Amino acid sequence: MIEDAEERGAISPGQTILEPTSGNTGISLAMICSRKGYPLKVVMPDNVTEERTRLLRMYGAEIVYSPGDQGSNGAVAMALDLAERDASYYMPYQYGNPANPNAHYHGTAVEILDELDEVTAFVAGLGTGGTLMGNGRRFKEEDPDTKIVAAEPLQGELVQGLRSLDDGFIPPIIDLSLLDRKIFVSNRDSVVWTKRLVEEEGLFVGVSSGAIASIAVRVASELDEGNVVFVVCDDGWKYLSSGVYSKPIEELERDGTLESASFW
Ligand SMILES: Cc1ncc(COP(=O)(O)O)c(C=O)c1O
Repeated sequence: MIEDAEERGAISPGQTILEPTSGNTGISLAMICSRKGYPLKVVMPDNVTEERTRLLRMYGAEIVYSPGDQGSNGAVAMALDLAERDASYYMPYQYGNPANPNAHYHGTAVEILDELDEVTAFVAGLGTGGTLMGNGRRFKEEDPDTKIVAAEPLQGELVQGLRSLDDGFIPPIIDLSLLDRKIFVSNRDSVVWTKRLVEEEGLFVGVSSGAIASIAVRVASELDEGNVVFVVCDDGWKYLSSGVYSKPIEELERDGTLESASFW
């Protein structure tokens, strides 16, 4: 998104960048902006894990917190409001910027197709929709039968990085006709599968990857053969403080962490 804005002449070093984020895009932007000389302000829910705040500060970003109970929608609303009141900000706006899905169209999907002859189903989480749209478009061009499946949190449950389309905000980059299925996943299943991935496969991943894995396994169980690809968006380091990897699921349920949005 930054390179695209530079190529279009929309920004040059010194320009302040403003972006709403559940944390991860903000951290990437903070790294890139610090190297290229752009001051960065991110708007992020106040209940994300401490690791995100620390990484953003390490890269020199300024953080504005939005109400945690409003999830990433609250961050989007606050950032749009700030941008409207101060025209000096440049907002990449990952939710509406074609450079977001295009990075997957020209990057992630090409890497996957280099490795596999056939993609029967592609499963990813739905945050901005960039991963699903960019990969989905490329895979459908390659083989219109490839099924594109979105893992969506249950309405009212918050898995950081993911959104429910039923909560009222459909990011402008999303073309719903590209999605063959949306499958709901609960917080509990997301955590159960996050733990299974580390315990059974040695994969130390974030909670949205657990959510996506649970759906990928369900899709695979409906097939006789084929390749089901799912995306691990984040490793587990930023979620370590949540206790998800060390406590049994019953304990996480009992002590209330499973329902608490701040958990994510
Ligand atoms: C941890 C995590 N999982 C999933 C997603 C969703 O990806 P996308 O925004 O491409 O839909 C994000 C988005 O930033 C994320 O940070």
